[in-house]
Formats: sequence, C-alpha cells, structure tokens
Amino acid sequence: MCGIIGYVGPRPSQDILLAGLSRLEYRGYDSAGIAVIDGDGGLGMRKRAGKLAVLRDDLASTPLADGTTGIGHTRWATHGGPTDANAHPHLADDDKLAVIHNGIIENFAELKSELVGEGVTFRSETDTEVAAAMIGREYARTGDLVSAFRAVVSRLEGAYTLLAMHEDHPGLVVGARRNSPLVIGLGEGENFLGSDVAAFVEHTRKALAIGQDEIVAITPGGVEVTDFSGAPVEVEAFEVTWDASAAEKGGWSSFMAKEVSEEPEAVANTIRGRIHEGRVEIPELDGMDEFLADIDRILVIACGTAAYAGMVGKYALETWTRVPVDVELAHEFRYRDPVLSPRTLVVSISQSGETMDTLMAVKYARSRGAKTLSICNTQGATIPRESDAIVYTHAGPEVAVASTKAFVAQITALYLLALHVGRVRGAIDPVVAVEAVTELEAVPGKIARVLETEQARIEQLAHWMADTRSVLFLGRNVGYPIALEGALKLKELAYIHAEGFAAGELKHGPIALIEPGQPVFVVVPSPRGSGEMHKKVVSNIEEIRARGARVIAIAEEGDVAVLPAADEVLRIPLAAPMFEPLLAVVPLHIFAMGLAEAKGLDVDQPRNLAKSVTVE
Ligand code: G6P
Repeated sequence: MCGIIGYVGPRPSQDILLAGLSRLEYRGYDSAGIAVIDGDGGLGMRKRAGKLAVLRDDLASTPLADGTTGIGHTRWATHGGPTDANAHPHLADDDKLAVIHNGIIENFAELKSELVGEGVTFRSETDTEVAAAMIGREYARTGDLVSAFRAVVSRLEGAYTLLAMHEDHPGLVVGARRNSPLVIGLGEGENFLGSDVAAFVEHTRKALAIGQDEIVAITPGGVEVTDFSGAPVEVEAFEVTWDASAAEKGGWSSFMAKEVSEEPEAVANTIRGRIHEGRVEIPELDGMDEFLADIDRILVIACGTAAYAGMVGKYALETWTRVPVDVELAHEFRYRDPVLSPRTLVVSISQSGETMDTLMAVKYARSRGAKTLSICNTQGATIPRESDAIVYTHAGPEVAVASTKAFVAQITALYLLALHVGRVRGAIDPVVAVEAVTELEAVPGKIARVLETEQARIEQLAHWMADTRSVLFLGRNVGYPIALEGALKLKELAYIHAEGFAAGELKHGPIALIEPGQPVFVVVPSPRGSGEMHKKVVSNIEEIRARGARVIAIAEEGDVAVLPAADEVLRIPLAAPMFEPLLAVVPLHIFAMGLAEAKGLDVDQPRNLAKSVTVE
C-alpha cells in the first residue's frame, strides 16, 4: 500500500509533497517522509514514524532547505515496524540518492545477503533499502539513473512502484512500476508522479496512466516512458473527472461522515447515462451483446466490503439474467483450481482498482481463458486496465478507509449490469425490467430520507452503546450480506467484536451466543408480498428476545409487526425487496461511525488498516 508522490518544476516542492501525501494518507499512515534536492544541489531528507502530522510538525520546527525536485511517501508497514528508520525515503550512494517504494520485493532477503557480502550496511529492516542500495550501486557505475533502474528492476521479484532522485540530477525523478500503481500528472512546466491522481489533482487534471513493467522519467519539460528493456511505449492519457474539492472534508467532522452523506449521489451518479427510455443500456458494454448472450456462468470476485456488494449482486444477477452466479473472495479464488471457460464472465469489484488480491485473481482468470469485467471507482487504476471491460461506479473519491458510498455505488452498478445482461439475453420480462429501473431511480431519494429522518437517532443509539463489547447482525436473503457488512464496519471502525449471520442459520449455532443484554441488529425483510420471509425473521427475533437479546430492527416504514418484538426500530422507506439492501445498509454505516466516534476513535484512519491493500 503506501502512498507515493514525486514533483519536478519551478515551485518549492515541500508544500506540494505534503499536500499530496495528505491526500494519499488513506493508503497508509504509520510513517511518512520526504526528500528534496535543494537550490545548492544537496539532498535533504526527513522522515518520521506516526501520521503525516508528525512529519509536518517536525518540518515546521526545523525546515529542510527547499528545492524544486522532491519525492514523498506515506507508509503502511510490511517489512519492519513503523519506526523513523524504516520510514521512507531510503538513501544510498553516499546519501546522494533517495528512493521510495510501494509494494513488496519478494526476493529481498537473497538480494540483501548478496549486498551484505559486498560490504553494504543497512540502516533499516525494509526491502526498500535493498532496492535503494542496488540502484545506488548501478548508478555509481554509469551515472545514469534511468539505466540504473533498468538494470535493477529486472532483478526484483514481487510488486513495486519505485521512485528515485539523485542530487547530481536536479529536475529529474525516475519511477518504475510492476503490480503497483503509478500515474503521471502533466502540468505547465512541471510534472508529477503519484500513486493515484489524488496526489496531484489540485495542480492538474491531465493524467497519463503508466502500464505494467514500465519506467518513467519526469523533468519539468517532459515525460519519457519506456518498458523495462528501454523501448519507448505509448501511454494512455485521461482527464480526471473530479476536482480537488471532491477530496476535501468540506466542513464535515470526518471524510466518512461526508462520504455517508454522499451515498444518495453515489447511486444517482452511477445510474446517470445508463438508462435510456426505461431500459438499462451500459454504453461501456457496447459490442459485447453476443458474448453476454452466450455466457453460462458469472463469477464475482472481490475483497472486504466489495465482496459483500458482490453477494448482494448475486441475487439480482441470478434473478434477472438466469445465469448461475458464484461470489468468491479474490484471494481464495486464485489459489485453487477453479473451473473457468471462455463462456465464464468474471466480474471483479474494487473501489480502488488496486487491491492486489483482486488484481491477481483477475489476471489469473484471464490467463485461464475467462472474460473479465471490472466494476471500479478509480479511473486509470490497474484492475480496470487489466480487464476486458469496465463499468465505472461514479461515487467520486472515497478517502475514509472504510468503504461506504462506494459500497452502494457497487451494488447499483451490479444491478445495472444484471438488468443490461438480462435484457441482452431476453431473460427478464420487459415489464419487470421497467419496474426495476423505476425502483432504482427512486433509491437516491430514499437514502436521503433515511439520512434525514434516522441519522440523529442512530447516532444517539450509538452513543448509548459506546461500552458494548459485542454486537450481532442478522439478515436473510438480500439482507444477509448487509448483516455481514454491518458487522465488518463495526469491527473496522470501533474495534469491537461483531458477527453477521444469516437469520435462518441462527438456530444452527449462533443462538448459543445470545445472553441477556446482547445487542442484535436485525435487517427485517418487507412484510408486503407473500410476507413469508418477514414472518420467519420476526420469529427469529422472538427466539432471541426470549433469550434476553436487545433487538434493534431495521424495518420498512409501516411494518408494525416488528414493534412488539424489537427494542428499537430504525425505519427505511418502502422499496421492492431487491432494493432494500441499498437502504438498510445506511443505518448500519451511521451506527458503526457513531459508535467509533463515541469511543473517541479516528473513523477515517482505523488502526492497522489501509484503504488500498496493494500487497497479497
Ligand atoms: C481494504 C479496505 C476495505 C475494502 C477492501 C477492498 O481491506 O479496508 O474497506 O473494502 O480493501 O478494497 P477495494 O478497493 O478493492 O474495493
């Protein structure tokens, strides 16, 4: 994970680096550092354990001499704990060369022993310092930083983005990437490198995506990209569709609070442009009708919250396309021998588009002959670039580590995909499809109503429950993944034990956990229609109440049957059953955030986590 930024241009670089790192802190926040080449051609470096604020304060009290070439790094520790020494940059070539890194160099131990054999000494426990020493050794031979990179990358195994600069070459930053992200920002007389566009979007919205196994050299006046053998390559240009203000807190107490408030727009923006005269037509899937009509299996792969979105999507995909659907955690999928064929559609879901487990699973699926479609929220990210087709979610930049607005956007994209594929295959009755579209279009307004009417009450409830040591979540059918998501959010944000269960599974084991006072959230299906599932879930509530559970029901407006059974009822507007997850998850996001805040925790940067997990 880790966030990376590089700058060359006419301006003093320190503030640019620190501002970029603050936008990349979601990628890791256990230490940070910068290096700059100052006006006298000397290399200055400062790095500190702790969040970026520690580095910022340190630089404010004892500033580095400023310079117009610089690199910066925010770290999520892999090799070596979060200490000053292990923070990046790492220096080599008599401290004239500075290197930063994102990823894991898998063969670092053998490379390190080779270097130790040559008399090189190390100041950290990191794999990065090994790469720095190797680049330093090569540079000392040739005096050419790009060729030093070329010589070294061929010996590195694993995943890495590396950036380096040398005090002999002010105005030059060199980078390389393999299985880790790196994008270029094109300015006027200045250029940037970043782990993602957030690093430089406040300065430019013109970006270039660097492909796999490529080396880039930026100077104030130009950008050169070559492959690992030195051959020039074409790079793909794109315009960033959001501006810097979209990634600002804008008066909210946290990014998460802001992002939960943006859930209605995340859904609305993901729908936009994909419904024509009541029919779902996803323009990005033009030309794929023949293939989609012929698929015999859909496999959804993702991690974390995105995998729960996938589980919700399965219900819609099977109902509307009549194609069998499996959902699997990306890291589990890759290390077995899955049955795939050219008629399998593998749908990956990833907010960041950089999750290493998901990326590797996509590559594996492709290598085994399946077609891959990526549902992703980040333009120019690696997973969409490695996929055969892309359906972007348009949730806007998500900064808080725990995913919220991206989750509802992912479910929305899956529903659109299901309606699109169902139409292409003639599997969905057109009247049903029109009803589904009408329901989907009504979702943003309904989420807004949940926020308006329930948020304050849920926050109050969370406050009362601040000392709770364990919370259970139950759901059935489409409500089941929502129960899992409610539990995951509580673990991630409030660090308390939380489990989600399928309500029907209760009697097969989990009911033994119920003791007097145990809080249980229950996602209650609608009583309308046959009401069969509703009755069963209400019976489940009775069973746990009889054993002393404290029940908080999430039920639709007007459902009076839950009133005698539940201690608290949180209301969601009426919706067709398939669309209830998009509403029922909102109280659970608010609750987890509220409980973490009541405990005084940082909801944007929970301990031990990072938003974009670019290691396996
Ligand atoms: C990390 C984050 C989760 C996220 C998961 C998948 O574990 O902490 O919030 O759901 O990665 O991320 P992706 O970017 O692939 O959706």
